[in-house]
Amino acid sequence: MRLPPTQPAIRVIQEEHDLLSAIIRGMEYFVRAIDEGGKAPDAKVFRAMLLYVSDYPDRVHHPKEDNYLFARLHQRSDKVDDALSRLESEHRQGDQLVFELQHALTRLEFHGMKAFPDFKALVQRYAQFYNGHMRLEEDVVLPAALQFLTGADWNDINAAFQANDNPLAGTDDKEDMQQLFSLIANIAPPPVGLGPEA
Ligand SMILES: [Fe+2]
Ligand SMILES: [Fe+2]
Repeated sequence: MRLPPTQPAIRVIQEEHDLLSAIIRGMEYFVRAIDEGGKAPDAKVFRAMLLYVSDYPDRVHHPKEDNYLFARLHQRSDKVDDALSRLESEHRQGDQLVFELQHALTRLEFHGMKAFPDFKALVQRYAQFYNGHMRLEEDVVLPAALQFLTGADWNDINAAFQANDNPLAGTDDKEDMQQLFSLIANIAPPPVGLGPEA
C-alpha cells in the first residue's frame, strides 16, 4: 500500500525505498543471470550495488528513520512499539548483511560455481529481509505516524529527511549516491540498467 505523500518526509522515504528496491531487483537479476547459465554480469556491478546499500540506506536513510521518525512515534504512541523494535533491530543488521554478501561474492569469484548456491541463498535472504522491512514501514509505521504525530513533529522530521535531498546541507551524500546509482544503471545490463546485454 502506497500512501499519498502528504508530508515531504513520506515522499523522501518512498523515493529512497524505490531506489533500494531497484538495487535489490538488480541483485536478483545478477543471480538469475548466473543461474540460467548465461554470461554472468561483471562482479563490479554487484560491488557497486553493495557500495550503494552500505553508503546510503545504511548510513543515511535508516539513521534518519531511527532518530527522527521512530523516536517521535515512540513518544506519541505505544501502538506500533513491536513493529518499531523489529525495524530498529533490522537497521542494526545492515552492515553485517553487506559484509556477508561481500564475502559470498568474493567466494564466488575465487571458487566458481561451487560457491554459487550459498551466494544465491544469501541474496534471496537479503531481498526478503529488505522487502519485508520496507513493507512494514510503509504499511504500518507511516500510517501510524500520520495518525499520531503532531504538526511540530512533522516539521522536524520533514527538515531531517529533506536534508537528504539537499547536497548543500553539509554533505554531498545525495549527489554521490545519485552518481553511484547512475553508474549502476550504466554498467548493468537490461532490465536493471542501460548497459550492453549480458
Ligand atoms: Fe528502515
Ligand atoms: Fe525505510
